[in-house]
Amino acid sequence: MKVTVVGAGAVGATCADNIARKGICTELVLLDIKEGIAEGKAQDMMQTAALLGFETKISGSTNDYSKTANSKVVVITSGLPRKPGMTREELISVNAGIVKSVCENVLKYSPDAIIIVISNPMDTMTYLALNTTGLPKNRIIGMGGTLDSSRFKFQLSQRLHCSPSELNAFVIGGHGDTTMIPLIRLATWKNEPIDNFLNEQEQQAAIADTMIGGATLTKLIGTSAWYAPGAAGAALVEAIIRDTKSLHTCCVALDGEYGQKDICLGVPVIIGENGWERIVDFNLNSDEQEKFATSAEAVRSMNSIL
Ligand code: 2OP
Repeated sequence: MKVTVVGAGAVGATCADNIARKGICTELVLLDIKEGIAEGKAQDMMQTAALLGFETKISGSTNDYSKTANSKVVVITSGLPRKPGMTREELISVNAGIVKSVCENVLKYSPDAIIIVISNPMDTMTYLALNTTGLPKNRIIGMGGTLDSSRFKFQLSQRLHCSPSELNAFVIGGHGDTTMIPLIRLATWKNEPIDNFLNEQEQQAAIADTMIGGATLTKLIGTSAWYAPGAAGAALVEAIIRDTKSLHTCCVALDGEYGQKDICLGVPVIIGENGWERIVDFNLNSDEQEKFATSAEAVRSMNSIL
């Protein structure tokens, strides 16, 4: 089983590193447009195999897509990252051209691949990938909600003084500082509603810190984050390859679900060997439904720039 990660920047390389450590594929190809960077990082990762004990064979390629042939999953991380003060939306025009050409090249050699989109602005890039490739909608997955949900669990865990992995919490809507919707009403710690442990002010603080999670890191680091975005991409690759049928929030094509059509937006989905296999209805209340509609409007207006 082969997996390709396009873009050997920090997010792509971290994603590849996580995939290798999971030992879920026999072959992993890292591809980048910049001469030597993918080959170098692939070799560096291979030199961890003896230390970490994985068997995956990792190779790098400078823009030679024939090396990616017959990939089961392709993760697209290419594009410019955010700079401090920059919104994900400001990246649209440059990254749209990049993502479109990556999709075309990928599908030339892996026509059956499932595509995971990480490039920003992620909702718009997922929509672009869907429309330019014409692939069945289940094979195009935007990673945003999986990352934002992990950040939400982190923010809640800080206030609960518990492990993030003891929490169940989901973020739906857009992958933008103002478009994402952390679903606090449905968040639980060991199956108990968060309401039982955190007061209103603490809950609102966790929501607010989740929503600016990416921007906070961009400000601190000077560029976009990569550990959690890379790990989120790898988690989705694992769900597909192991056919786990696990529940994630991902950006997928909506056709009336959650009241929206002709848009890709974050909703709960079951991920398995066929990509996203089913959208799960969380029965949003009217406030959440209204936020979802507002989020859709904002994403739609970004999509109109394409
Ligand atoms: C983030 O939220 C890069 O969009 C990514 O950090």
